[in-house]
Amino acid sequence: MKEFTMVITMKKKVMLLLLSFMTITHVVSGEEKLKIEKGEFITIAHRGASAYAPEHTMQSYKLAKEMNADYLEIDVQMTKDGVPIAYHDHKLDDKTDWKGEIEQYRLDEIKQIDIGKWFGEDFQGAKILTLEEIFKRFGTDTNYYIELKKTNKGVEKTVYDLLLKYDLNLSNGQVIIQSFSQDSLLRMKSLNVRIPLIKLLEDENALNLTEQKLKEITSYAAGVGVNYKAVTKDFVDLAHNNNLLVHAYTVNQLKVMNEMLELGVDGMFTNKPDVLLELSLSFTY
Ligand code: G3P
Ligand code: CA
Repeated sequence: MKEFTMVITMKKKVMLLLLSFMTITHVVSGEEKLKIEKGEFITIAHRGASAYAPEHTMQSYKLAKEMNADYLEIDVQMTKDGVPIAYHDHKLDDKTDWKGEIEQYRLDEIKQIDIGKWFGEDFQGAKILTLEEIFKRFGTDTNYYIELKKTNKGVEKTVYDLLLKYDLNLSNGQVIIQSFSQDSLLRMKSLNVRIPLIKLLEDENALNLTEQKLKEITSYAAGVGVNYKAVTKDFVDLAHNNNLLVHAYTVNQLKVMNEMLELGVDGMFTNKPDVLLELSLSFTY
């Protein structure tokens, strides 16, 4: 172990520290370790394989699974009647024939919305999914990277109860929770200290990150999610020196994927998980 520790890369050191912080001590015998447990780079399918199918639809998530993405990214919002659903925009106006905010509508109304038509005729009729439908479909052999978009209606407890109901492993990184809201992440932490949390940074905050702010984030989160435009070598080093993982969003161009890998980020959100996987598997660290 000592010799192994001496030759691991900086990224792996960060990960080992993280795992010890999270008090992960073992994996169930016979189960393969997740990439995140091994300190390896992860490919996060941003709203599914959303370059090829409308975001957050079953088609998009199925494609991401077929492409072997490490994580399915899901933006979660609550319906008027308190059901967590997968959708990014707060307003329906841009990509549907409906108007107004998600939270104005009950689930039975939400289910009437077509979220496929804007992407292409082939996808007409695609429906908004509940988080539960996604868990039911993909179960425990998938890893989930869940963003708490709005922090209303007790979303943290509702999502947490679903994680338990679907028997997801909450201590090995099978589920990662991300949010721009520190309060929301802290509420999740109060429900379960082991779930890895990622603090999303607004661009201006990422560009002006102080050591003090990083230390505050380190006290509760496993890493930061940051716009790739704000990622520099100094940023990555600063985060790693504070035992924080760096996950860059949202990277769809091969050139930028390469740049991010060179800078040593620990994962990327992408609409093209097939492209990123192929590149990252051939990348020499
Ligand atoms: O969750 C971070 C990443 O998904 C980028 O943000 O706006 O696409 O949810 P957004
Ligand atoms: Ca997101």
